[in-house]
This record gives sequence, C-alpha cells and structure tokens, in this order.
Amino acid sequence: MKKYAIKKIGIIERYQEYLPVTERTPIISLNEGNTPLILAEALPGYLGLKNIRIYYKFEGLNPTGSFKDRGMTMAISKAMEAGAKAVMCASTGNTSASAAAYASRCGLKCFVLIPEGKIAKGKLIQAYRYGAKTIMVKGNFDQALEMVKQMTQDGKITLVNSINPYRIEGQKTAAFEIVDDLGDAPEYHAIPVGNAGNITAYWKGYKEYQKAGKSETLPKMVGFQAAGSAPIVLGHRVEKPETIATAIRIGNPAGWQSALAARDESGGLIEAVTDDEIAWAYKFIAEREGVFAEPASAAAVAGVIKLARRNYFQEGTRIVITLTGSGLKDPDYALSFDDLVEVVEPTYEAVRRVVQP
Ligand code: F0G
Repeated sequence: MKKYAIKKIGIIERYQEYLPVTERTPIISLNEGNTPLILAEALPGYLGLKNIRIYYKFEGLNPTGSFKDRGMTMAISKAMEAGAKAVMCASTGNTSASAAAYASRCGLKCFVLIPEGKIAKGKLIQAYRYGAKTIMVKGNFDQALEMVKQMTQDGKITLVNSINPYRIEGQKTAAFEIVDDLGDAPEYHAIPVGNAGNITAYWKGYKEYQKAGKSETLPKMVGFQAAGSAPIVLGHRVEKPETIATAIRIGNPAGWQSALAARDESGGLIEAVTDDEIAWAYKFIAEREGVFAEPASAAAVAGVIKLARRNYFQEGTRIVITLTGSGLKDPDYALSFDDLVEVVEPTYEAVRRVVQP
C-alpha cells in the first residue's frame, strides 16, 4: 500500500508571507483553516436565482468549531513570542472556546468572561474542558469586554479579543482561501456582524490579496446583525441587546468604525434580520443543504434571502456566505424545534404508523 505523507498545516504556515510573523514566532496551531467552500444546491433554486452561484464558507469545521481559530492561532502565537504568561477575553462563547484551546496547547493561563446564562452550551463546555478559568458575569458581552479591557491594561495579561490586531490578521486568511478556491473574489460576501471583527478582517484580506495580484476584483461586503442587537444598523448603541443568535448578542461593537469602512469602501451594506428570519434560514440550510451551522451564522443566510427578494444581486455573479460556527455548538436551540420528532411505543405497528415512505 502506498504511504502518503500527512501534512496538514495551519493558516500561519500557509500564509506566512502575508502575516506579521518571523522565524522567532512559535507557531501554536491546531491545523486551523483550509475550510471547504460548499456550493449551495437548494438555496438559489428556492430564491428563483437562475444565474447566480452561492457558496457557504463553512467555518464550523475549524478545530474548535468556529472561525475564531484563525485569529487565535495568531494571537496566541504572538503572545508566546512576547513572553506572555496569561491571556484573557470576553466572549459570547466562541472566542472563549478558541482561546481556551490554543492557550492549553502552549501552557498559557486563560481567563474568560462570559455573560451568565447567555452562551450556548457547547461553547461553555469547551471553555471548561480546555481548562480555562471561566468567569460568568451578571451582565452582557459589552460589559464583560469593558471589564477585560481594564484587567489587561497594565500588560500583565494579554487581551485576545478582536481588538488585538493579531486576531484580525489571522482571520483575514479566510478571504485568501476563498480567492484561492474561486480564482478571484466573489461579487458579494455575506457575513454576520457581532463585535465586527470578522467583517473587518475579511475586507482587509480581500484588499491585501488584490494588491498582491491574487484577485482582480473586490466583493461588496454585506453584513447582517440580529434585529434586537443591531447598533450599527440603528446608528446608536443598544443597551440591552437581545436575540436567539447569542453569538452576536452585542450592543456596542468594538469594530464599529472598521465595519462601516468595509461597508462603504466595498459599496455594500449592513442590515438587520429578525430572529424569525434567522430561525427559518437555520432550518433551511440544515434540512435542505445538509449544512448545520449555528444561529448567528444563519443570520447571514437570512440576509441573503432578504436581499434576493428585493433583487439586490446581479445576474451572473457569485455570493459567498460565511457560516461562522458549527450547529453543534448550540444544542438547546437545535432542540427547541421538535416538529420532526415522534415518540412511540417499541412495537412494529407503532413505528410503522409514523414511517410513511
Ligand atoms: N458568528 C459567530 C458564530 C460568532 O461567534 C461571532 C462572534 C460572530 C458571528 C460575529 O463575529 O464579532 O467578528 O462580528 N463571536 C464573538 C465571541 C463575539 O465572543 O465568540 P464578529
């Protein structure tokens, strides 16, 4: 039998010429990135889009189940290079899961601050099991982030939220991968917006790759917030953000200004989608496309559906939707729809009654 060399590399090794790393940077990696760009089979037909291709960039397939791993491999590697002993973040769940994993890999202490009762169970489990000190605050993400900023001000603990510029550097590699896969940038890029780090990172990535001659064009960035947590859309802070998409339950995004820049420079938009629209999109991509993403990710799908209905997209174009996290992260939300469940007696007749081919 032929032997194959197993060489899986992470985003730093793959894209080091575009990243602020040197030979002295220890690479702390879990082979993140290289996620699939999955062609949508059902959505264009459902929307009556004839000459438009839609792709899902499925970031739920990263080592901890979200796109955060791209930024975290950079932030943790640079923290190690600088001799850090501990890292800290506020999180709606995915950042904390990722920080905990990468910190555990290199023996860094990790502290995470999360809003009590408002993070998905899968993410909470990850912070625990990767060994982070998990602190629940009786407040929301915005308050937790404020606390972390204060706690890390003296430099003894390194902040690994996306206001750490290395996070953005790592996350921009998702745009590189998309261009590498498609041969050019798509015409539109749809993305959920929470703390607004990722839309900032993608736009940076697309611009840098174009400058390097890897793509001819740039996409329009179309971002989506949940209606109950839509400060950028409303143009003012939301004191009490609410949405079932807890990952983006944020009322005062740190990346507000750079998200506006991405929107305006690209000629795109940032709009809101309701929790009902998110729920519908969440079910559609799982039940019709076989792609299980978390509610925050479905916000971007809901946004594309909304824009398609008002004929926003031009013929002959490509839309990439970033599905930011795995559906397995939020089992409680997944189980809140019991429309396909039947409970029966353990008899042939009882099962036969509900199985109608
Ligand atoms: N989708 C998921 C699954 C997320 O976890 C987040 C952010 C976003 C979208 C929005 O990305 O903040 O860069 O605009 N989660 C952060 C966290 C806030 O703490 O895990 P963003």
